[in-house]
Amino acid sequence: MDQKISLTIDGKKLEASPGQTILEVAGENGIHIPTLCYYKGTTNVGACRVCVVEVENARSLVASCCMPVSQGMMVMTNTERVMNARKLVVELLWSSGDHNCLQCEKNGDCELQDLVYELGIEKPRFDIDSPGYEIEDTNSMIQRDLNKCILCGKCVRVCNEIQVHEVLDFSMRGSNAKVGPAFDTDYIDSECVFCGACVDVCPVGALTFKQARFQGRPWELEKVRTTCPYCGVGCQMDLNINDGKVVKVTTNRDYDKPNQGMLCSKGRFGMNFIDSPDRLKTPLIRRDGELKEASWEETYSYIAEKFASIKKKNGPDSIAGLSSARCTNEENYLFQKFMRAVIGTNNVDHCARL
Ligand code: FES
Repeated sequence: MDQKISLTIDGKKLEASPGQTILEVAGENGIHIPTLCYYKGTTNVGACRVCVVEVENARSLVASCCMPVSQGMMVMTNTERVMNARKLVVELLWSSGDHNCLQCEKNGDCELQDLVYELGIEKPRFDIDSPGYEIEDTNSMIQRDLNKCILCGKCVRVCNEIQVHEVLDFSMRGSNAKVGPAFDTDYIDSECVFCGACVDVCPVGALTFKQARFQGRPWELEKVRTTCPYCGVGCQMDLNINDGKVVKVTTNRDYDKPNQGMLCSKGRFGMNFIDSPDRLKTPLIRRDGELKEASWEETYSYIAEKFASIKKKNGPDSIAGLSSARCTNEENYLFQKFMRAVIGTNNVDHCARL
């Protein structure tokens, strides 16, 4: 068994495992250290410096997300020096982008906004010109506003290290640094598969779900956990509902298996069929070349008659059945049973094989 490490954080004597960071140990013990670039399960990059703490005998403040604990370490998370450094970082981030909360879709769900409030910053001391990027609005799913990007790199890491699509990375240097697909293309012209993980992790309003814009403020949305209906994996997700309508789909890493907070583009962006005016609500039977609404009784009788007459005329193998990944295992089992035992054919297939 690993030998435990003893340390003190804010006067609390604690025990930790070798390799744990100060941030992890603090979090496990209910000590709050704010973060902006930390994302569990990805490389700790120490990009934002919001998580700085004071460590006794250390030359400078250290980023708690990157600093492993050591025997006898004395850590202070909220000294005047720490708070001044955090404030400075947040003021710089606030001043160097277009963080206009009034028109921002993330208002009320923005980690930078929360930090400004938590640190009691009335107004940033700096006056920095907006980067002046054009808002990317060339696809129907994700809106990208680099003027709000704080370069935390969470989107880059979730794309490369968790989803492994390897679409996003940093380009340029210094104040021109930015995040995006290769060759500075729009998402739609890149290899992006629109899983939406980058939007989920963006702490500010740089990446937002386009379909959800102006459909409800974060505090108006009710999150309902459900299982994605698209395939048999059983991914867990949250439907964000406003006034009875699904506005967007988000995930929660605490749901753990099977998807651990990740989704594919169907689960993420394919839920607008629920409220679509084109959605079929009754069966339709083609009569005189036109599809006409019919009752379920009428429809089942029609199907049974057609199956019986086709089978009588051409034999059971003239009929084939294609089932759906959106059905449950039990439904798919019943379907193949029906085809084999009732219709009398082995012509059964499933859309997941296509
Ligand atoms: Fe530690 Fe950003 S959370 S540097």
